[in-house]
Amino acid sequence: MTTVHEIHEEATGDVPIRRITITVNGERRVVECEPRLLLAHLLRQGLRLTGTHLGCDTTNCGACTVLVDGRAVKSCTMLAVQADGHEVTTVEGLATASELHPLQEGYREEHGLQCGFCTPGMMLSAKALLDENPDPSEEDVRWALSGNLCRCTGYQNIVKSVLWAAAKLRSE
Ligand code: FES
Ligand code: FES
Repeated sequence: MTTVHEIHEEATGDVPIRRITITVNGERRVVECEPRLLLAHLLRQGLRLTGTHLGCDTTNCGACTVLVDGRAVKSCTMLAVQADGHEVTTVEGLATASELHPLQEGYREEHGLQCGFCTPGMMLSAKALLDENPDPSEEDVRWALSGNLCRCTGYQNIVKSVLWAAAKLRSE
């Protein structure tokens, strides 16, 4: 069991603790945490999955996007206890031991990142799109990524990367 009792500096001994079970990247994790703990903080600090980034903590940037039961969710806007009983996918869950996910290949082929800060969240939003719509238009991709901000790339190559991945997935 993974135990996460105290994430916040101001935590005190009289804060109630909840036990929750979350499947993260296919692995069942049992966690004890405070009800106020954000899912993003559980992932990053509790489970050490630091591929989920925090850019704003206010639902604006999308850097913290993960999949919850296949839907793109900003994990800074969801409590960890709300994920109890659900499946969470983070960027660490995309590649296998031997192969990159087509989205990751697409980013490499089309130069979809610069600093990489926005990239995990972008990839998870893109995955949610491609799981639902394997043949998206450029406009579909732009719409799906509209909740994810990038300060570096200008978006053009990100969109190309997602379209590359869509084509690769259709050819498999
Ligand atoms: S950190 Fe969650 S939206 Fe920016
Ligand atoms: S690549 Fe730097 S923020 Fe997007």
